[in-house]
Amino acid sequence: MEMLEDQYRAALRDSIAGMGESSLQQAYELGRRALTEGLGVLDMAAMYHKALTAGLPRDSTPEETALMLQAGASFFAESLAPFEMTHRGFRDTNIALRHLNQTLEQEIKRIAHALHDEAGQLLASVYLALNEVAANLPPAREHLLKVKGLLDLIEGQLRRLSHELRPTILDDLGLLAALEFLAEGVAARTGLLITVEGDSELALSPLLSTTLYRIVQEAFTNVTRHAKATQVNVTIQHELQTLRCSIKDNGVGFDVSSLSAQIGERGLGMIGIRERLNSLGGSLSLVSTLGQGTELVIIIPHTDSLEA
Ligand SMILES: Nc1ncnc2c1ncn2[C@@H]1O[C@H](COP(=O)(O)OP(=O)(O)OP(=O)(O)O)[C@@H](O)[C@H]1O
Ligand SMILES: [Mg+2]
Repeated sequence: MEMLEDQYRAALRDSIAGMGESSLQQAYELGRRALTEGLGVLDMAAMYHKALTAGLPRDSTPEETALMLQAGASFFAESLAPFEMTHRGFRDTNIALRHLNQTLEQEIKRIAHALHDEAGQLLASVYLALNEVAANLPPAREHLLKVKGLLDLIEGQLRRLSHELRPTILDDLGLLAALEFLAEGVAARTGLLITVEGDSELALSPLLSTTLYRIVQEAFTNVTRHAKATQVNVTIQHELQTLRCSIKDNGVGFDVSSLSAQIGERGLGMIGIRERLNSLGGSLSLVSTLGQGTELVIIIPHTDSLEA
């Protein structure tokens, strides 16, 4: 940092002294280094201010000073260019992720329909075919009844999965009912004890309720896969201008700070949650203590007027 500051000051001095293009190139390089060393835009402004105060000769005329300030401003802008580019890259990535989420949402819808309608239809024809076989082969009837029983089970599970994937309950009965339905399914499959509490009168936009549904769905998957928990509690509260949703498990917990360090190595679940929230101006905080479980807290701005 010290060295960077010294070099920045020297390069700015060159620029003020009229060294033009080459000093601008240096400004850019120093900006890149500052970025990799973890400096922010405010640090850059402070460093520039310090270097400028030290670098302006005191005995110059107002006209000379104006020219030097102009050169200094170009230098400063150039040293910020890497920050601007990173910022743009970040925005582009966010936009790409948003598209990805939309595509995902359409895919989920398609799979849900395929599960529900096509697989359901196929099962129905297997049923009919079995009935025919049963009619022609009386001694096999007993076995076939068993097979039918199994088919019934499969049909029920397919139906449930398709509803969980893209719950029509969400549109018809609202978020809370949809989450209760989801929780029942997860509980039945995993043995987790899951509670869902909240205000059933909540009137949320389709985007908001789909977002929260997907987040809770991912949270349940994470608890199932990583937490070794026995209980999960979900609460949704409407506070003054916000909606607060908490998903808390009593599992093994994990080191939250390792998440950002291992981007790329770990999954996309949390990143997906953050992106979904970004587009609604919401935020996610993670509280996890090793051995004591994990809590996801989601805050989303929400006023009735926004819903209209
Ligand atoms: N409830 C939890 N309990 C314990 N660890 C968790 C919990 N939720 C997340 N984690 C940890 O955080 C990591 C990141 O979670 P994330 O959902 O982003 O990725 P993933 O579940 O590993 O993969 P993906 O979601 O892409 O299938 C997990 O790999 C796990 O180590
Ligand atoms: Mg996950």
